[in-house]
Amino acid sequence: MSLKPRQAFMNTISSFSDYQQHYNRSIENPEAFWEDVANNFVWKKKWSKVLEWDFHKPEVKWFIGGKLNITENCIDRHLPKKANHTAIIWEPNDPKDEAKKITYQTLHDEVCKVANMLKANGIRKGDRVCIYMPMVPELAYAILGCARIGAVHSVVFAGFSAGSLVDRINDSGCKLVITADGTVRGDKKIELKAIVDEALKKCPSIERTIVLSRTSKLPFMKEGRDVWWHDEIKNVDAHCPAEAMDSEDLLFILYTSGSTGKPKGMVHTCGGYMVYTTYTFQTVFQYQEGQVYWCTADVGWITGHSYIIYAPLCAGATTVIFEGIPSYPDMGRFWQAIERHKVNIFYTAPTAIRSLEKAPLSFVERSDLSSLKILGSVGEPINEEAWHWYNKNIGKGKCPIVDTWWQTETAGFMISPIAHVTPLKPAHATLPLPGVQPAIMDENGKEVEGNNTEGRLTIKFPWPAIARTIYGDHQRFRDTYFSTFPGKYFTGDGCKRDENGYYRITGRVDDIIIVSGHNLGTAEIESAIDEHSAVCETAVVGFPHDIKGQGIYAFVICYNKPNEEDKLRNEIRETVSKIIGPISKPDKIQFVSGLPKTRSGKIMRRILRKVAEGDTSNLGDTTTLLDPSIVDEIKAGAL
Ligand code: WTA
Repeated sequence: MSLKPRQAFMNTISSFSDYQQHYNRSIENPEAFWEDVANNFVWKKKWSKVLEWDFHKPEVKWFIGGKLNITENCIDRHLPKKANHTAIIWEPNDPKDEAKKITYQTLHDEVCKVANMLKANGIRKGDRVCIYMPMVPELAYAILGCARIGAVHSVVFAGFSAGSLVDRINDSGCKLVITADGTVRGDKKIELKAIVDEALKKCPSIERTIVLSRTSKLPFMKEGRDVWWHDEIKNVDAHCPAEAMDSEDLLFILYTSGSTGKPKGMVHTCGGYMVYTTYTFQTVFQYQEGQVYWCTADVGWITGHSYIIYAPLCAGATTVIFEGIPSYPDMGRFWQAIERHKVNIFYTAPTAIRSLEKAPLSFVERSDLSSLKILGSVGEPINEEAWHWYNKNIGKGKCPIVDTWWQTETAGFMISPIAHVTPLKPAHATLPLPGVQPAIMDENGKEVEGNNTEGRLTIKFPWPAIARTIYGDHQRFRDTYFSTFPGKYFTGDGCKRDENGYYRITGRVDDIIIVSGHNLGTAEIESAIDEHSAVCETAVVGFPHDIKGQGIYAFVICYNKPNEEDKLRNEIRETVSKIIGPISKPDKIQFVSGLPKTRSGKIMRRILRKVAEGDTSNLGDTTTLLDPSIVDEIKAGAL
């Protein structure tokens, strides 16, 4: 196989009956189905077998023996025809600053330079590189530069604290960090390099830090360890051969919260990830040549990896990278940027929609949104009110909303409408995409067949982009995802299936809460709160929050009854912010003298959830509690 330019990756589903046909084929003969899709990509060597799998082990391999480099698919193959087309539009934090347009040729040159810069700094295939950067074009170059030479990137969201960075760097044994002096988000400046310096005191594996100048600050630079991006990049050239990667070689690690305190490093590999994310991007958004596509996520999360960087670029699209926040300089920022860049496909999160919905409509009305064709939603269930507001005011009733359900672990869309193809139903992710075989399970671990049902959502057959393991802990991978319902991948979500077979995701059924679309483990927040010297024990649950979807409610036992409760609350919030990051700060902190525990010492979170929801009328059976009287105290003190 060669780098011969192929036709732009084709949309193959354009009607509901097409969908049904493709879906049926993907179930009856998954290997033939995915082989056809994979043939649309550039491979250096063809695979010898499409799939091997066993969900009991668990083990999944796709396109076995195939060799490829994802950056040739994201960049090189587009060059013969599209060297001067815009690959990336960068919209800076401050709208008064100039936006940048980066062509596919420039992207090629910059990615190759980063690849060479990494090599010059000792990075080889298989080495792990931590990326802790603002939303700037160089972040895309850094990611793709790693992929070019087969280094495994681990992007850490730049809102995480030094402590979180330490855990992630050490867990995967990164050798190098790429960061920036600082970042700006709205009117807030964050000194990223200072956070990295703090973290690196505890990260013995890091040999080198490459620092991009973004805020023109002069941070501390450690002799022999820290180098400037602009100095290093001068010394390298703009050509770098793309490393031949095995389909199953690691492409990246991305950490996601787990039910225990320790984040899970989800491992994604090269071949299946590329094929699946690109296919789903192309299919769900029905992407057309020349369209401008904007996903507002941060590249620090899976949405940014798959649907800002890899899939849109593989599809030859123009993808927007936005550095700022929806409320800066005012609540009309998204809409103005849509007008400025004539965005055709806009993909955001329910939490953003809910916060913008609260602003006067004049912020929307002053912008021309007529370029929009398709809207998307991701990250949490979108409530009907937000769905209707989005549909009416942003889509003007003409743009389908694709409510895409998926996860860090799935790497790509799983259950989602296909734009202009699937009849929509507000707040429903609708139907599984081709290749996706959901099964709803009841409490006893039996599959519930038929429609009008609900239960726990599992997937019973592998798709090409399923995570292969948790970095360094395959046993945890098995325990977390494949042991609850043996032989099936357990998503951790609850769902309903309506009379037409449409899926509605109802939310997490485990100890993960989703705050503003961010996955947070309650155990991780609890252990951060416990770090405060006044705190003895904590239980954290989610509660419904108007804008964030879920808020964080902490029940805290102190060693001594606090004198100044509000002061202590602020200190606790600061402790959490310092240990994990500001996104994990509890919204409500209730001081209690005990927690509802069973005789075996397990906290009955069901009760705490009810209290946090403000619904204490029926707390269910509390007789198995060690001390049932504690429930009355907790109810009386509810916030
Ligand atoms: C939730 C984000 C309802 C779900 C891509 C899932 C959703 C978790 C939706 C994964 C949706 C994501 N409707 N819930 N359209 N999309 N979720 O790993 O609970 O950050 O398990 O991946 O977000 O979050 P993650």
